[in-house]
Amino acid sequence: MSDAYILGIESSCDETAAAVVRSGEQVVSNIVASQIATHQPYGGVVPELASREHLRAIVPVVRQALVEANQDYKSVDAIAVTQGPGLAGALLVGISYAKALAFALDKPLIAVNHLEGHIHAVLLEERQKGNYEQQFPVLALVVSGGHTHLYLAARKGQGWTYENIGHTRDDAAGEAFDKVAKLVGLGYPGGPIVDRLAPHGDATAVKFPPAQIKHRDRRVHRLDNHRKENGGESEVESDRPRFDFSYSGIKTAVLRYVEVHDMQRSIEMRRQTLASIAKPKLEHYLANCDKRTLDLVASFQRAIVEDLVGKTLTAARAYDVATLFVTGGVAANSELRRTFERDGAQEGLPVYFPSRPLSTDNAAMIAAAAYPKFLAKDFAAMDFSAEAGLVLR
Ligand code: KG4
Ligand code: ZN
Repeated sequence: MSDAYILGIESSCDETAAAVVRSGEQVVSNIVASQIATHQPYGGVVPELASREHLRAIVPVVRQALVEANQDYKSVDAIAVTQGPGLAGALLVGISYAKALAFALDKPLIAVNHLEGHIHAVLLEERQKGNYEQQFPVLALVVSGGHTHLYLAARKGQGWTYENIGHTRDDAAGEAFDKVAKLVGLGYPGGPIVDRLAPHGDATAVKFPPAQIKHRDRRVHRLDNHRKENGGESEVESDRPRFDFSYSGIKTAVLRYVEVHDMQRSIEMRRQTLASIAKPKLEHYLANCDKRTLDLVASFQRAIVEDLVGKTLTAARAYDVATLFVTGGVAANSELRRTFERDGAQEGLPVYFPSRPLSTDNAAMIAAAAYPKFLAKDFAAMDFSAEAGLVLR
């Protein structure tokens, strides 16, 4: 089969992105317009502002992705777009534009689950290195600002199927990074800042109790019942071991630490100083952080990393997997990568990550995930709609 050039469009959260990917294996162009500056003053993503920024950016971002790929609207073979999960209003911008392009150009339209996109970022990265073979079973940890999920991924014909064996019961790991960074006056988004500051603190200084999950997840109960009612998966599947996460407790523990150690005034001063600098650099952060703050940030990151790696490797053993994928924005974290590589190697388990630009939200992963659907002619009807809570199966 000849090469297929797929234009991917992603607008699920705070990045407007477009990319052209050749046959699911080569990034030809990859444009990401970040909205960080818009949301920074609010310390988190404001959905209405996100939609407005997507509307502003979508046309020039897609145009730039085509120009850099030496393609034009007519030459691409298909248009792929994120259907969900994500912010409904934000998703709608990408979907409406993708539909309009597909209709006007008479091109196939492919709807992609954002989480499947993150998983295919790993496959895309490996294919670019010439590695086309994965040992199955594959376990994928998707860890980002909105998600902390464990999926067993398998090939089925041209496509892929996924079984969720763990998710967060409350905050996502990236959300915890963002909330803790905000709490100690470091600004938004917190993950990259904490990543760079943590090596300057003592990660053993503050002890956080491990997250405890005692109760069965009610959402899983409901899902099982729904599936049974609809003649879906059997009861046996719901009895398979689960490896859920919880990160709201550690955020509360950081808050308590801040209160007990009377850190609020210095945090407010740091917040104001950093907010007055257009693009603070590492030296600005370091100049405005005392040892106690650096130790707190380092200890927090260590606790999250140990929990993510520990649970994922326990799940990998329980399901006897052959390969581990780690992907999503938090997969850009240096300590997480190092720890997964070290502990994975000890167990003889190969661990694959996307490069950092493909770890955080981008449209190349959407175009890559669309390729098997393109081959299978699994095209979306023109009336498909955004699904904020889209589940990956
Ligand atoms: O995948 P992503 O770009 O968007 C979502 O799908 O959510 O992930 C964004 C999240 C944010 O919470 C951000 O703080 C976190 O990923 N993140 C990081 C790092 N880079 C981004 N967290 C820890 N360390 C990093 N280096
Ligand atoms: Zn994402």
